[in-house]
Amino acid sequence: MSILRTFATDILAFDEQDTINTVADAFLSQAYQQCLSVAVVNAKQQPVGMISRHQLNDIFLKKFGRELFGNRPVKDFMRQDVLSVEVTDSLAEAAAYISKKMRFPLSEDFVITEQGRYLGMGAVLHLLSAMEKQISQSAAELNIAYRQLSSSQAQLVQSEKMAALGQMVAGVAHEINTPLGYVNNNIEMAREFFAQFHYVLQAHEHLAHTLIDPNSRDVDIAESLANLDDAKAGFDSQQWFADLEGLFADTFYGVEQISELVTGLKNFSRLDQAILDNVSLNECIENALLIARNTLKYKVTVLKRLEDVPPIRCAASQINQVLLNLFTNAAQAIKEQGYLLIKSWSDKDFVYVSVQDTGCGIAAEHLAKIFDPFFTTKPVGQGTGLGLSISYKIIQQHQGSIRVASELGKGTRFVIAFPRTLNLSAAA
Ligand SMILES: Nc1ncnc2c1ncn2[C@@H]1O[C@H](COP(=O)(O)OP(=O)(O)O)[C@@H](O)[C@H]1O
Ligand SMILES: [Mg+2]
Repeated sequence: MSILRTFATDILAFDEQDTINTVADAFLSQAYQQCLSVAVVNAKQQPVGMISRHQLNDIFLKKFGRELFGNRPVKDFMRQDVLSVEVTDSLAEAAAYISKKMRFPLSEDFVITEQGRYLGMGAVLHLLSAMEKQISQSAAELNIAYRQLSSSQAQLVQSEKMAALGQMVAGVAHEINTPLGYVNNNIEMAREFFAQFHYVLQAHEHLAHTLIDPNSRDVDIAESLANLDDAKAGFDSQQWFADLEGLFADTFYGVEQISELVTGLKNFSRLDQAILDNVSLNECIENALLIARNTLKYKVTVLKRLEDVPPIRCAASQINQVLLNLFTNAAQAIKEQGYLLIKSWSDKDFVYVSVQDTGCGIAAEHLAKIFDPFFTTKPVGQGTGLGLSISYKIIQQHQGSIRVASELGKGTRFVIAFPRTLNLSAAA
């Protein structure tokens, strides 16, 4: 059923031949009490005008109004511009039409017609308040849709991060395996060293026992000494300690490398993305380089010119993600061998990081699109097309900016800038 039908009252319209007196009497009766105005129809029941309570008052308040005008037909006094809507109109159409046409102060109702014939009267206020309800309901729906959209966007961000991380994991596993291999080797060697040491120590102890034993004979002592000489053959204690020292230093180095990688991974997958901290961009660069090391190492020579930049207040894991994507993009743009130059510096307003590669460059017609979600020129599996759009959003959230300059066949340079005022102490 059309919604406007529910607005239509069953009040009868006036006939255009009805007199003003008839109309006035009708308005005084109970049935018309709610009406501000009523339609006037012709013989075919088509609305031709409207007469309002307000107009009648005007007529009767005139001197001798009833006597002069009471017997005249209503059509001489009615307004001919009828506020009229078809019952099949939508609520929105009707409300738009009424609010455009209605007169102030509000002294009229509107006519509802069915195929051009009078059906009933509707109250302007009812219509507008129904419309308002519908608008606030659709605003609430919009709000829900918006929230759903932002949460699915958050999921996309997470999945790009996971994809990037997935690509890295194989590399990082490999990176961990190398130091792990030689740590293992060194421990094995230390064990052999100690076995030898144990043997020498035993010979020493045996000799000591023999020497302090009153029952020892010279021959026993000589045998013990010979035994010690055997054990010590090829054993240079100076050399031995120096070797062991080296073994330990190497092992420590390996363990340190492993723990660095683990910390790097942990920083990356940190779920407390929203937590803001005073962060050094240089540290973020090192962190992202660590994670990207395996992707970069065979074909990319990394050059760093990092100045001492002030810390900024940001979510470190998000900045790591931005940098990792820039490094990965650079590595993917370099087909054979190339350079990645990373710079950081600051001026009085901003802290900058520039990431420049000697890769394939970006075609002019692509340049405007690279920050669009899902824009990628890479085969499935290599690119999601989300990296830069997410980076853009992250940087924007940090009140920063990202710019790109690129030349096909020469390379690409991204510069990101964060306001120095992001500093925690400044913000506090
Ligand atoms: N350093 C770069 N060199 C060349 N092209 C790049 C570089 N960085 C980004 N691009 C282009 O921008 C596109 C979008 O990058 P991005 O949003 O990170 O998505 P993805 O790397 O998954 O394709 C890439 O597919 C590539 O065409
Ligand atoms: Mg990318």
